[in-house]
Amino acid sequence: MAKMYYEKDCDLNQLNGKKIAIVGYGSQGHAHALNLRDSGCDVIIGLRKGGKSWPVAEKDGFQVYPVAEATKAADIIMILINDENQAEMYQKDIAPYLTAGKAIAFAHGFNIRYQQIQPPADVDVFMAAPKGPGHTVRSQYVAGKGVPCLVAVEQNATGKAYDIALAYIAGIGGARAGVMETTFHDETETDLFGEQAVLCGGVVELMKLGFETLVEAGYEPENAYFECIHEMKLIIDLINKGGVAMMNYSISDTAEYGEYVSGSRILPYEQTKANMKAVLNDIQDGTFAGKWIAENKNGRTFFNSKRALLAKHPMETVGAELRKNMLWGDDADPDTASN
Ligand SMILES: NC(=O)c1ccc[n+]([C@@H]2O[C@H](COP(=O)([O-])OP(=O)(O)OC[C@H]3O[C@@H](n4cnc5c(N)ncnc54)[C@H](OP(=O)(O)O)[C@@H]3O)[C@@H](O)[C@H]2O)c1
Repeated sequence: MAKMYYEKDCDLNQLNGKKIAIVGYGSQGHAHALNLRDSGCDVIIGLRKGGKSWPVAEKDGFQVYPVAEATKAADIIMILINDENQAEMYQKDIAPYLTAGKAIAFAHGFNIRYQQIQPPADVDVFMAAPKGPGHTVRSQYVAGKGVPCLVAVEQNATGKAYDIALAYIAGIGGARAGVMETTFHDETETDLFGEQAVLCGGVVELMKLGFETLVEAGYEPENAYFECIHEMKLIIDLINKGGVAMMNYSISDTAEYGEYVSGSRILPYEQTKANMKAVLNDIQDGTFAGKWIAENKNGRTFFNSKRALLAKHPMETVGAELRKNMLWGDDADPDTASN
């Protein structure tokens, strides 16, 4: 059984007198910073001057500094910029100011797992990784709930790294939902696998192919959007609340029968498992990481062309039009996405 921690196991007082620099103010950065501040912590923000996020963080009432200045001032430096930019920024703006006894922290283990960042031995290195998007980390906290988190310690130079990591996770609300102990190694590999095979890669491809199949057969695109995309959240909400059993309880017996006879026709067991194992293998042996690092060095041509193509896909354009006309309107703020 995995070791789990909850609020009773976390002591927020471990952060008393400690200044926390949140480096990056994007999806995770804004959520960690706002939640920690609302939990009574001393938070500053580290960013690059001239970037889009700087005025946003200032508008939210934070003191914002260049990353090097924030690193000098802080005891805990949480690195929440894009994974692909972290190694260069770490070398330039963090490593020179990382004195003994400070802590650096991550929300994902990519750069430690694939040795893009190699911290000195006299600092703590921990992970506080929410298992959900940053905007949900914020919206759940505000709703009095939390997003489950993973905790890991790569280096425990001070002997207090676990206490600090758990206090940090309590500060962002994660301990309200549950904190699972893991390693940087396992978090990185399972996180990459989950997002590629199931959550993002798998789900988007499934919805897209379902949408296309109905439209190509002559059905209305709006109908295809409601059926294959809009309803996805309603179904997932039930599974999230009470497992597949609660979904099956709520759907009709006809739908449940269809689930049993057609699910494995869409995702043939042997072939899909073999494909998933191949994806996992690329993650484990560093093939995926190597390609992603190279893609960033080479101007992201593949990534950008895929993003542009998706934006033009009818499932996106039809969906945008439908959402705009829903009674509650097209709410473009991810922080208020319904939970
Ligand atoms: N997104 C998620 O839901 C999620 C979930 C779990 C874990 N994580 C992890 O959380 C970390 C942050 O991801 P994210 O998705 O929150 O990032 P993000 O939304 O893309 O945010 C990027 C932020 O980093 C800043 N930034 C980028 N390069 C910089 C540089 N060289 N110097 C200073 N600031 C820089 C950006 O500022 P500018 O405005 O200046 O560009 C922006 O504020 C990653 O390790 C990711 O794997 C993310």
